[in-house]
Amino acid sequence: MDYKDFGLVNTKKMFSDALSGHYAVPAFNFYNMETLQAIINAAHDTHSPVILAVSESALKYMGTDLLRGMIWGLNLKDSNSVALHLDHGSSFESCIQAIELGFSSVMIDGSKLPFDANVALAKQVADYAHQYDVSVEAELGVLSGIEDENTKSSKSSYTNPDDVVNFVNATNIDSLAIAIGTSHGAYKRKSNDEELRFDILDKVAQQLPDFPLVLHGASSIPQHFIKTINEFGGKISNALGIPVEQLKRAVEKNICKINVDSDSRLAFTAGIREALAQKPENFNPRDYLGVGLKNIYDNCVEEIKNIMNSANKL
Ligand code: G3H
Ligand code: 13P
Ligand code: ZN
Repeated sequence: MDYKDFGLVNTKKMFSDALSGHYAVPAFNFYNMETLQAIINAAHDTHSPVILAVSESALKYMGTDLLRGMIWGLNLKDSNSVALHLDHGSSFESCIQAIELGFSSVMIDGSKLPFDANVALAKQVADYAHQYDVSVEAELGVLSGIEDENTKSSKSSYTNPDDVVNFVNATNIDSLAIAIGTSHGAYKRKSNDEELRFDILDKVAQQLPDFPLVLHGASSIPQHFIKTINEFGGKISNALGIPVEQLKRAVEKNICKINVDSDSRLAFTAGIREALAQKPENFNPRDYLGVGLKNIYDNCVEEIKNIMNSANKL
């Protein structure tokens, strides 16, 4: 299946436009109809490009046929602003599968491999993907945090700016994810005083001035969702994200893709908990899932406008 038949685009033009326009393209993860609807409608209503990100576990959860049916159902023809991206692909085979399914972009995550093995794997994926005009992201440096099986890691190591030019030249990838202090999940840091390593970002951007850089683990963990979740029976303590101001600063400095998953999870959970608690007699899932969907939509709109700066960029 060719991704162009879905009306999808790869990320090449998206990223060159983002670099010159000083904004980031949002990459929002989805895993069911509601999360997909919320994200695509938020991007549509704000006139923002968007990357629909699917992890391997989300792909397994949805099933390949239903995923393709949903993408087909978006009727993207001529929209020119939506990419479908495999998030944290763990192997060459996984990337091939995604490309065959109609993904327009893949990440090969060899970040925990030794440098040379990471290069070899990323190059193998890039050589294959480019035959089909599919974009490839790879990562240098390791993020810490809780996420899916292939990316579980308790230690982090920042990206070494001295490695990035060699890595990009040797692999021919289209974008590079870097580790500058973000991490996956909702428990990113102990206090808002901790700063991202902007010194590393500056050095990487100096080495690769016109190259798209990517920030994973970039949820800001809006505290109002935590409050609502806890108010209506949840138990989430000490969840802290990357402060919005720091994300905005990163966007000004060559970060042109920002990955957000945890914020949408919190938004969905907060909406559902509140809706169920407020109408305990209700057992129509469309009601409470609809509130969760609206929460994700509102948060995506907010982040597109206030963090990514990608509204009205189509
Ligand atoms: O960065 C990774 C995402 O948050 C994916 O998590 O495998 O639970 O969908 P997941
Ligand atoms: P968050 O857990 O910060 O939302 O990160 C998501 C991500 O990096 C997906 O690849
Ligand atoms: Zn990630």
